[in-house]
Amino acid sequence: MSNEELKQEILRLKKEKNAVILGHYYQRHEIQELSDYIGDSLALAQRAQEATADIIVFCGVHFMAETAKILNPHRKVLLPDMEASCSLAESCKADDFAKFKAAHPDHMVISYVNCSAEIKALSDLICTSGNAEKLVRSLPADQKIIFAPDKNLGGYINQVTGLQMLLWDGVCMVHDAMQAEAILKLKAEYPDAPVVAHPECNAALLRVADFVGSTKAMLNYIKASDKKRFIVATETGILYEMKKENPDKEFITLRDDKSCACDDCAYMKLNTLEKLYKCLRDEQPEIVMSDEMIEKAKRPIVRMLEMSKQLGIIK
Ligand code: 13P
Ligand code: SF4
Repeated sequence: MSNEELKQEILRLKKEKNAVILGHYYQRHEIQELSDYIGDSLALAQRAQEATADIIVFCGVHFMAETAKILNPHRKVLLPDMEASCSLAESCKADDFAKFKAAHPDHMVISYVNCSAEIKALSDLICTSGNAEKLVRSLPADQKIIFAPDKNLGGYINQVTGLQMLLWDGVCMVHDAMQAEAILKLKAEYPDAPVVAHPECNAALLRVADFVGSTKAMLNYIKASDKKRFIVATETGILYEMKKENPDKEFITLRDDKSCACDDCAYMKLNTLEKLYKCLRDEQPEIVMSDEMIEKAKRPIVRMLEMSKQLGIIK
């Protein structure tokens, strides 16, 4: 089938089966185009919780689809490619993490949503890059915290808050590989362009960024800015929404420095139009979890969503 035929079939099946497609900003452009909602991890978790369709097709990575299932367990949740993992989730295995947690019994555990359901079940609170700083700041100042699995996001929060959270040693292989030197070269070439960066980037890169925030926060910053061009330090999928929202603005990425073609997430790009079509047609691969795991992993995610509402981060 041609791409056009695949698109028509996806739309037909979506209607016939009463399905909703949730897509992350890092998905392939053609998938974002077909999604009913595109968003950052926080907005997509909320959408998943509120979804009333019979089927949720999650075009993102595994931990996102798993979070959708945990928040809305009576819906069928599909992920076009089950291999769509995440280096952060891979870096933090439940057995190792349980030992780490047991070694610090007086610490609260905050986990970044980019982790498995097993890690969520071992956590007191989940966060996303869109709410992490505000959630942490809302806790008592003397609260001892373990932050997992992203040492870059955790380190960034430590730096801006002055806290000393204990960090798990995990990274996003895409953002961690982006180099401050490459950004500095681009800055010298385009001195008028602010640098926007995702907090999963390494500390050296974040130090040279003008704005640090989640995918949605970067989009908001660019939309509100009167600058005409931006240097973007995050996964390239986001350029689809950046260009759509700001047709008169220019975006420079690490590709333009030619030193790095590291800004594509191989996991995010596993979902293709063809796999999305087959997934809707066959209603698989499906996220299946035990009721017990859903119950355990749900508590810290619901706590995150409730705190985010109280703090005015989401409605
Ligand atoms: P956000 O969209 O929440 O900023 O997350 C980025 C990310 O890397 C998801 O895998
Ligand atoms: Fe995981 Fe990084 Fe890919 Fe996001 S971009 S899914 S954090 S590997």
